[in-house]
Amino acid sequence: MAKLAVFVSGTGSILEAMIAYPLQVGLVIADRECPAADIARRASIPTVDLERTFGTGFDRERYTDAVLAVLREHGVDLVAMAGFMTVLAPGMFKGYPDRILNTHPSLLPEFKGAHAVRDALASGAKITGCTIHVATARLDEGPILAQAEVPVLDGDTERSLHERIKAEERRLYPEVVARLLTALS
Ligand code: GRF
Repeated sequence: MAKLAVFVSGTGSILEAMIAYPLQVGLVIADRECPAADIARRASIPTVDLERTFGTGFDRERYTDAVLAVLREHGVDLVAMAGFMTVLAPGMFKGYPDRILNTHPSLLPEFKGAHAVRDALASGAKITGCTIHVATARLDEGPILAQAEVPVLDGDTERSLHERIKAEERRLYPEVVARLLTALS
C-alpha cells in the first residue's frame, strides 16, 4: 500500500476522521505543538515535530527542505494537508508533483486564503462548503478533486459555520485520500 503522511497544525479533527475511516496514516508532521500531534502520538503514528518560527527570520526554503528530508526518510508516497498552516516553498511541489492534497473550507475558487469562513460569512453568501484539491505552489489553487456544499444559516457565526464545514471535510477528505492511495498502490 502507498504510504500516507498527514500535515497538521491545529485541533486535528480531520486527522481523527482519517484514522477512524480507517486510513493507514504512516507519518504525521506538525509545524507547531498542537492537539493534532497529540492525537497522532496517541494513535501510535510516527510523529515528527518540525516546529517553525514566525516573523521575518522564517526561512521557508530551508523549512521545506527539512520537510522533504523527513518524507523521503519515511518513504512517503502521498501527503494530505489537514489544517496545515505553513505555506511551503515551491520545492515541495516539485519533489511530490500531484502527490500533495489539501482541504480548504470554501468552494474554491471562492474565498481563498486563511480566512475563508469569515470571508464567506461577510460576503453574504447563502452557500459555501469545502474543496479537496491537489496542492500546488499557488496557494489554494490546483486541480479540484471533490467539493461539498454547506448552507449558511441565519445567525451563523464563523465558528458554527466552520464546524458544519468541517463535518463535510471529515466525511469527504478520507474518501478522496483512500481513492488515491488505492490508485497509487
Ligand atoms: C479545516 O477546516 C481545514 O480546511 C482548515 O483548517 C481546518 C482544520 O481542522 N484549513 P482540524 O484541525 O482538522 O480540526
